[in-house]
Amino acid sequence: MKFFIDTANLKDIQEAYDLGVLDGVTTNPSLMAKEGIFGHDNVMAHYKQICEIVDGDISAEVIATDYNEIVREGEALAELHPNIVVKVPMIRDGIKAIHHFSANGIKTNCTLVFSAGQAILAAKAGATYVSPFVGRLDDISTDGIQLIEQIVNIYGNYGYQTQVLAASVRHVMHLVQCAEVGADVVTCPLSVITGLLKHPLTDSGLKTFLADHAKGNA
Ligand code: E4P
Repeated sequence: MKFFIDTANLKDIQEAYDLGVLDGVTTNPSLMAKEGIFGHDNVMAHYKQICEIVDGDISAEVIATDYNEIVREGEALAELHPNIVVKVPMIRDGIKAIHHFSANGIKTNCTLVFSAGQAILAAKAGATYVSPFVGRLDDISTDGIQLIEQIVNIYGNYGYQTQVLAASVRHVMHLVQCAEVGADVVTCPLSVITGLLKHPLTDSGLKTFLADHAKGNA
């Protein structure tokens, strides 16, 4: 399973990359705004900086909702770097644009996916990744992990090449459950990746080992 970090924060991206376990980055307009990145030139420059840190797929989201504009914006983003994946919302014009990008060798991430039907459509259009939002479904008392499992099974039935990118992964158990049901990728904040390190028995065990070793050197 690939690990993507879901942020536009360069420090967090660098820290996750330095751990040696990072395969890519996802961003969205809200994450860019959170870092104070506004305006076309600043946004483009920020994506370039991310591409310089991480050697892996970097999702950059279009703002347009009209087919021609999505294509124009997506092609400009794809020009930035070979690792850019154009992130397109699950809307009618978005699906048309994903088909266009797929036919022209541009990688895509179909975002804001909340149902198996939407995921089937994204795969039919040729999306590289589909992003079902686990946490946001859980937020409305719907089982996000069950949707990941359903999409993994459906894609397996037909050999669809679209990778299931579990998004809106908010905590360690989400990540582990995504792994159990066979998600191809999870995208999550740095805290979820570093959260995987933690176990109280690791901490107490290490403390004892170091204390016992110190006795020999006393
Ligand atoms: C992923 O691509 C989405 O932008 C992101 O995971 C959404 O996460 P959130 O629901 O925690 O905002």
